[in-house]
Formats: sequence, C-alpha cells, structure tokens
Amino acid sequence: MTGLYVTFEGLDGSGKTTQLERLAAWLRDVGHTVVATREPGGTEVGQLVRDIVLHHRGDIAPRAEALLFAADRAHHIATKVRPALERGEVVLQDRYIDSSVAFQGGGRVLDPGEVRGLSEWATEGLYPELTVLLDLDPAVARGRIDAAQKVFDRIEAEAVEFNQRIRAAYLAMAEAHPERWLVLDATRTPDELQAQLREHVAGLLTSRDGVGGAA
Ligand code: TYD
Repeated sequence: MTGLYVTFEGLDGSGKTTQLERLAAWLRDVGHTVVATREPGGTEVGQLVRDIVLHHRGDIAPRAEALLFAADRAHHIATKVRPALERGEVVLQDRYIDSSVAFQGGGRVLDPGEVRGLSEWATEGLYPELTVLLDLDPAVARGRIDAAQKVFDRIEAEAVEFNQRIRAAYLAMAEAHPERWLVLDATRTPDELQAQLREHVAGLLTSRDGVGGAA
C-alpha cells in the first residue's frame, strides 16, 4: 500500500505554504495521517543545506547550487518521504524536482533536462501523483513579498525577469503533463483556492484503494 504524494509549486509569494498548511489541517481533521514537509530543509541535514543555499553571502556557481538542492532532495526522499508513503500516509510537500527545473533550469539557465535528470537520479525517479501550481504574475508576487516586509534570501533577491523565466518554465511543465499538474490562479482568495484544492484531493483519495475516505 502506498500513500498519496502531493507537491506544491510556485513563485515565492504565491501563497503555496498557506494552502499546504490548510490542506494538511483539513486532511488530519477527516482522519488521515499527514506529513507536511518542504524542500530545501525537510530534514536536519536539509536544514544545513538550506542555510548554505539560501543564506551564503556571495555567489554560488549555478551547477553547485543545482547539486546542493539535489543533495537536500536525495536525503529528504530517502529518509522521510518514501518511508511515509510506504506507511500509506499522505505527504504534502512544499517544492520538489519541478522547483529545480524552474529555478535552476529556467532561472539560472542550466539545461532543464540535465537538471531534471540530476534530481531523478537523486530520488530514484519518485514523482508525486499531483503537483499544484499556484500561478502568479511575478510583479504581483514581488509586491506581496515587499508588503510582508520580508528580508530577501539569495534567490528572492533576483530580478523580476528571473521570475518571469521561472513562471514560463512552470507553465510549460504543466502544459506538457496535465495528468500530474493542477494549475490554480493564485490571485483568487485563499478560501476559493482551498476549496478547489480540497475538491481535487478528495477526488484523488476516493479513487484510490487504501487511503480513500476517512482513514
Ligand atoms: P521556499 O522554502 O519556498 O522559500 P520561503 O522560505 O521564502 O518560503 O524556497 C526557498 C527558495 O529556494 C525559493 O526561492 C526557491 C528556491 N529553490 C530552488 O531554487 N530550487 C529548488 O530545487 C528548490 C527546492 C527551491
């Protein structure tokens, strides 16, 4: 028996973390065991990698950055995500392989196929049943981060143009694999987005053996 694996993607400021947390709370309320996790930083080792990759003062070569995200991912999948899925749990994850393809491929202009291949090696090819994209115009996303008066990390400090390439990369992936992606308009209210998400995830759960209905 395997659990349900759902990942969340989008620009910084798209609201994915809020939606993930609300979905996790709802799924727990209806009786599922949920692991809510994130990349980078879903494990202790991952926290160390997260600190380097987001807070190092100075440049990191694009290929080194891609390898750091992949190293975080390899450890996270092997020690936390696969075991939870094998126990039949629901795993909700903030960012995954598609973040590397969008940010290091689209953003840093590395070869997207090579970046994906690196992460597929790192994870032994594990893919989620569903990837939710909270799609948002980069200028709006930047405005939200500014309004929250957040101190930018290395990647958030990149220009709007960098984020435009990321958004385009996400939309291209979603178009290429509509069976895995659910694209939501992140300008909708948080309640509307949550309702759409619940409906979609409830459909997935009831169509599966083992995790369908209340667990
Ligand atoms: P995130 O945890 O979503 O940011 P925050 O703590 O601000 O909510 O992601 C951290 C940053 O790392 C984000 O800017 C996207 C970037 N990132 C990559 O560039 N590649 C990756 O593979 C991943 C997982 C994240």
